[in-house]
Amino acid sequence: MERENIILQRQDRIWTLIFNRPEKRNALDAQTVAEAHDALAEVEREAGEAGAVVIVRGAGDQAFVSGADISQLHKRTPYDALASINQGLLTAVDNFTWPVIAAVNGYALGGGFELALACDIRVASETAVFGFPETGLGIIPGAGGTQRLARLVGLALAKELILTGDRIDARRALAAGVVSAVTPPDQLGAAATGYAQRILSRGPLAVRMAKLATNAAAQTPLQAGLLVERMAQAICFASEDKAEGTRAFLEKRKAQFKGR
Ligand code: COA
Repeated sequence: MERENIILQRQDRIWTLIFNRPEKRNALDAQTVAEAHDALAEVEREAGEAGAVVIVRGAGDQAFVSGADISQLHKRTPYDALASINQGLLTAVDNFTWPVIAAVNGYALGGGFELALACDIRVASETAVFGFPETGLGIIPGAGGTQRLARLVGLALAKELILTGDRIDARRALAAGVVSAVTPPDQLGAAATGYAQRILSRGPLAVRMAKLATNAAAQTPLQAGLLVERMAQAICFASEDKAEGTRAFLEKRKAQFKGR
């Protein structure tokens, strides 16, 4: 697929997926969503056993993603909502095989906030602004926002932000646990890359299994989640990486992981 609204860059095992409609504050129209799916599929194909980390950010210095494209939203029907165009993309991000880091470099509103919430780790620039304007448009956050924000920060702050539409800045997002770190704008990329490198220094299969098992904490009842954890651990125990990782510790050297 020819991509215009999504730029995908690669540096070794770190991929950067950029939402690239700065003149529309990187709003999510249908084409952008389709291209983002396509870009994720490319990462999945190319990553292989060695693994990957995807850093997601918005083009320009104004916005991460300003939410659903309101000119398209205006024309959407209940059937479009059922087709879950944006929710489907964010579910794909949440369930993506490899970790996804949101580098929030400006407005993360509506679907942009939901995109950040679907990522595994969020870092924000001091200029980041988070909020759910949806009720002011006569709709609700429909791409996971009502569920993922409540699970992340609890019902109180989730309801406050969703019902009032109030925006929060990066500092409050940090205090609430929405983001892991806040940086000056020019250090955001380095901070996100730092997280990516630390993840990539670990066993790729273990990272993949750890994401899958940890996601189960938010998606399943406890007993089912514990079962997922046990199965994921059994896969790790059968891996060359487990043999190498534990042997390397005992031999006081750095592990050479293969991702299998
Ligand atoms: N959908 C469609 N177009 C959008 C958009 C969106 N979500 N967000 C911004 N744009 C467009 C604006 O219409 C404007 O287009 P124009 O130049 O053709 O008039 C352009 O992007 C720049 O937006 P502007 O509002 O002038 O920029 P700003 O820097 O002053 O403000 C925002 C940025 C993000 C705060 C503001 O654009 C905004 O509130 N956007 C809507 C956010 C929203 O409600 N999202 C939830 C949708 S469910």
